[in-house]
Amino acid sequence: MLEAARRLVVPSARSDVPPFMVMDVMAAAARIEAAGGRVIHMEVGQPAAPAPSTAIAAARAALTSGRLGYTETLGIPSLRARIARHYAEKYGVPVDPARVVVTTGSSAGFILAFLTLFEPGDRVAVAVPGYPPYRHILSALGCEPVAIETREATRWAITPEMLLAVHRRTPLKGVLVASPANPTGTMMTAEALRDLVAAAEGEGIRFISDEIYHGLDYAFAAETAARFSESVVVLNSMSKYFCMTGWRVGWMVVPETLVRPIDRLQGNLAISVPTLSQIAAEAAFDGRPEMEGVKHGYEENRRILLEGLPKVGLDKFLPVDGAFYLYADVSRFSSDSFDFAKRMLEETHVAVTPGVDFDPVNGGHFIRFSYAGSAAEMHEGVERIGQWLHKR
Ligand SMILES: Cc1ncc(COP(=O)(O)O)c(C=O)c1O
Repeated sequence: MLEAARRLVVPSARSDVPPFMVMDVMAAAARIEAAGGRVIHMEVGQPAAPAPSTAIAAARAALTSGRLGYTETLGIPSLRARIARHYAEKYGVPVDPARVVVTTGSSAGFILAFLTLFEPGDRVAVAVPGYPPYRHILSALGCEPVAIETREATRWAITPEMLLAVHRRTPLKGVLVASPANPTGTMMTAEALRDLVAAAEGEGIRFISDEIYHGLDYAFAAETAARFSESVVVLNSMSKYFCMTGWRVGWMVVPETLVRPIDRLQGNLAISVPTLSQIAAEAAFDGRPEMEGVKHGYEENRRILLEGLPKVGLDKFLPVDGAFYLYADVSRFSSDSFDFAKRMLEETHVAVTPGVDFDPVNGGHFIRFSYAGSAAEMHEGVERIGQWLHKR
């Protein structure tokens, strides 16, 4: 019976996407904790703080007020208008609420963006190191992710020259960038973003900008790609700045021509985004002062790592511009970051993410620190790592 089912139900080739290796690290951390050990978590890419109290209060009120039905497929109109206003307030960029789509986290936004922009077989450039689901979602949808290896000389970003060189060899249909980026925490300057948008659109390459870490910028202000063109697709989310990962609300700003196709797709795929979460998201925009306090905490954590890590021998890392990540070069100690992270966890109980998850080529030389935790954890993490590296 089981054998027959196995023969019949063979998973599709496109569902065969790689898992996150960090899951192995997290499982090992959980085992240590179950045995009574105390793990310093510097691997998790999510805020430790709760959602803004304005969001929680609005959700509570909505829960007691009764029925939570479906909403409009593109999102509650007042939330779409609030998001549009956010562009005027934060960037001075006017955005028509009609071009705003509320999504189930930015993760669902990627699926909608790729489905409406690309056909199967289309080639889409992504930066490496980069967030793995970009590549995996594209593959699952039958598109071809084209990894562009970035380097220090270009501030770890795709440049117009790099993009056009790849495009001339075999044409690209799209390019996706993130600034601030995961895992590197690096940012593109406004000029670099403007020039890349112009270069891409000049060649008919569709531009997707993942702006999920906006608001968490320390070196200079992050710029939105929406400033430079109404043809770009911008993705953002309540997950990071607003500390609302589990609420699963994101949004897109899309070209006017994509609104109706996305409406049809999202209507079929999801009907609408969870109503309670949308209500909370709208109220979260009033909680910005509280979130600025959380951001100051990250700034302090960043300072602790920038000062502490070089003292313990980890003195090579990428510019720590934004998000809550620091991408450190550990090639002095190992060329197998998975093994390095595993041993660090076993021997010091500090969990970090190996770079191989984000960069199959050079990731063996890097580990990613997340500084979304507390200052005390940062101090203790650095101290434990220092003692460990000293003994090696
Ligand atoms: C760069 C980047 N983009 C998108 C996401 C997806 O987040 P969400 O679906 O919670 O909006 C993440 C999550 O870690 C991320 O790091």
